[in-house]
Amino acid sequence: MFLLLLFLGLAAAFNNPPGVDIWCGKAYHPTNQSFPPGGGLTKPPPPSKPLLTIQVRPRMSLYTPPDLSGSFIVDSYLSSPNDNNTALDDTSDHNVDDLKLEIFVDEASLHIQSSLGAGITTQEVPFSLRNFVPRFRSYSVTLTVTRANTRQVYNATTQLFYLPGRTDGGSITKVDSLYGGILVQNYMNGSTGWSPLLPYSYFTTLDDAPNPQTFIAQGYNMIHLVPDAGLPNQSFNFTALNTFLNQCDRAGLWVMYDMRWTYQNLASVAMQVALVRAHKSILLWYTADVPDGHGDPLNATSITYDLLKLLDPWHPVSVLLDCYNFYYGDYSDGADIILSDVYPIGVNTTWSVVYNTVCNKTYGRCGCDDCLGNLQDISTRLDRYEKYQKWIGSVPKPIWGAIQAFGNETFWNRYPTAAEEVSMTMLSINHNAKGIVMWDWPTTQPITLVTRRLGKVLTAVGVTEFLLGSRTIRLKAEGQTEIDAAGWKLNHQMLVSIVSLQTPSWTNTVTIKLPKAVASITQVLWGSGQWSIVNGTLSKVGGNGLETDLIIVQLAPNS
Ligand SMILES: *[C@@H]1O[C@H](CO)[C@@H](O)[C@H](O)[C@H]1NC(C)=O
Ligand SMILES: *[C@@H]1O[C@H](CO)[C@@H](O)[C@H](O)[C@H]1NC(C)=O
Ligand SMILES: *[C@@H]1O[C@H](CO)[C@@H](O)[C@H](O)[C@H]1NC(C)=O
Ligand SMILES: *[C@@H]1O[C@H](CO)[C@@H](O)[C@H](O)[C@H]1NC(C)=O
Ligand SMILES: *[C@@H]1O[C@H](CO)[C@@H](O)[C@H](O)[C@H]1NC(C)=O
Ligand SMILES: *[C@@H]1O[C@H](CO)[C@@H](O)[C@H](O)[C@H]1NC(C)=O
Ligand SMILES: *[C@@H]1O[C@H](CO)[C@@H](O)[C@H](O)[C@H]1NC(C)=O
Ligand SMILES: *[C@@H]1O[C@H](CO)[C@@H](O)[C@H](O)[C@H]1NC(C)=O
Ligand SMILES: *[C@@H]1O[C@H](CO)[C@@H](O)[C@H](O)[C@H]1NC(C)=O
Ligand SMILES: *[C@@H]1O[C@H](CO)[C@@H](O)[C@H](O)[C@H]1NC(C)=O
Ligand SMILES: *[C@@H]1O[C@H](CO)[C@@H](O)[C@H](O)[C@H]1NC(C)=O
Repeated sequence: MFLLLLFLGLAAAFNNPPGVDIWCGKAYHPTNQSFPPGGGLTKPPPPSKPLLTIQVRPRMSLYTPPDLSGSFIVDSYLSSPNDNNTALDDTSDHNVDDLKLEIFVDEASLHIQSSLGAGITTQEVPFSLRNFVPRFRSYSVTLTVTRANTRQVYNATTQLFYLPGRTDGGSITKVDSLYGGILVQNYMNGSTGWSPLLPYSYFTTLDDAPNPQTFIAQGYNMIHLVPDAGLPNQSFNFTALNTFLNQCDRAGLWVMYDMRWTYQNLASVAMQVALVRAHKSILLWYTADVPDGHGDPLNATSITYDLLKLLDPWHPVSVLLDCYNFYYGDYSDGADIILSDVYPIGVNTTWSVVYNTVCNKTYGRCGCDDCLGNLQDISTRLDRYEKYQKWIGSVPKPIWGAIQAFGNETFWNRYPTAAEEVSMTMLSINHNAKGIVMWDWPTTQPITLVTRRLGKVLTAVGVTEFLLGSRTIRLKAEGQTEIDAAGWKLNHQMLVSIVSLQTPSWTNTVTIKLPKAVASITQVLWGSGQWSIVNGTLSKVGGNGLETDLIIVQLAPNS
């Protein structure tokens, strides 16, 4: 998040003239002129001839004993010529039947043979970890694809981590590259199995932090502690922090550890990590907070990332980005998980109420970069960040939503309502957010009450297994334009999330078609419960503004 008084006024690396402060690369003081901020990604041009790109990555960010097996994910997609990943001429009319696929990990005598199924874009290839020896150094993986008729051969490579287990009592968090979730071991019940976790939480400070035991009972599963910029070392009072982390360890409340003020000070990072890493409740690291807003050095997030992987290879690293399109590739490079920072409630996106200037693509700071000031700003940004990952040829990194739970300050003239809080969260989930962290705790009574209820729903095993155990399927709503719907399918069931983005209520009939006919409604988790099944689709007559529904349906086996 932002703190208006604290920013780095430097950066010769950017387009700004000396002495001109920037936010997301744009001048924003009325005394300064607009200039093109630069740093924007654009969609790569379409291929001049069809190319098939094939990428490989391990499904999990890491494996550890006693894991016995793992899997690789092989993606194949049509790509552009300036994509420097493995690419084959796509001469066979998208018929990839004749592609032989081999995966080698020479150091572990692993050789898998398979074929690339026709029309399949994401394929999971299991393997055994039997011959792998745990170590900190990664294993090199080579994928070889051979086209039978032309003998054309292509290689792609990736790295695999099979790490030693921890000996200091600390925990381990895996990132699932297939569905974007994180997995943890439930140390509270002594389980060594891996369970998916959908973090649902607030940013807070050590001074404002709730009691961990109470917080977890209220429906939250994680806490994000923001360090104290006012301390000489800009981190935490470690005596107080240690007491709090011990309480989190005992309660089973996960902690997202934030180094926003110190992340570029590698000595400080090393000291902090050494002090807290053995706490069981540490879930992940958080380094840069809006580095793109501040215009931090472009290599800053990745320099700290590399250090963190040396100090603690068992946890993912996250970064929160604020800008619509400003050096996304560089800043996201230093993260396994990206948080999107879009706060659209009570904001004026064309006139800066703080700096008294206009805001546009090249100028001004309005609190929500290149936003329209509506709920869709959230989904637009999440979709953009997902696209940027593709454009830069990166593996898909999970994206979490930082959700507005504040207001009545600086750029934001009011707090979100309880209904808006739910809409923003579910809209993020519909657009593939795999974690929710709200800014900030404590908040208003209505938001507190509604997020307690929603937390209990979203973090329940029966919901998390859909959200983190299958891919997000976009669903089309008919009869009402401003509805955003998505589904997650497991076996013959589907979790369906329906978010109405319009504020006035309506009276017409809305229908939502699922990939298969709906047989019955199994469970209403949130909302009106007024959906019925008409001719195999979900249907409802009329609705309330900003209504949100979350239901589980049974799909007809064959339709
Ligand atoms: C930008 O504005 C600052 C005051 O906010 C002023 O000191 C500086 O001279 C201006 N720079 C340019 C290049 O206009
Ligand atoms: C691809 O490689 C070429 C030549 O090595 C380089 O000029 C270009 O910038 C690379 N493109 C990307 C997207 O990395
Ligand atoms: C591709 O990988 C295989 C297996 O590691 C290796 O034998 C071959 O030389 C590689 N080919 C190229 C072109 O890199
Ligand atoms: C421990 O809890 C996890 C869920 O967090 C569950 O999957 C597992 O079965 C539990 N294990 C035991 C031994 O109770
Ligand atoms: C930061 O300062 C606080 C208070 O002065 C102290 O308790 C703590 O140990 C310091 N932490 C580090 C990492 O230096
Ligand atoms: C740090 O916290 C401890 C325990 O809460 C407290 O006794 C101490 O005064 C604090 N130190 C500073 C420098 O604030
Ligand atoms: C990071 O970038 C800065 C320029 O912003 C440069 O001075 C520094 O050498 C770079 N550091 C590394 C380790 O590449
Ligand atoms: C933004 O501020 C401008 C200038 O004060 C005003 O004309 C406009 O109506 C405001 N827009 C919103 C959405 O509040
Ligand atoms: C943005 O506003 C500034 C200040 O009014 C103006 O100079 C600039 O041309 C505008 N940029 C765009 C893209 O409209
Ligand atoms: C908004 O903030 C002002 C100034 O901090 C405060 O006086 C007022 O009570 C706040 N209003 C609400 C509704 O929170
Ligand atoms: C039911 O759905 C089928 C297939 O989608 C369609 O052909 C038929 O017209 C629908 N019937 C009604 C009453 O909507």
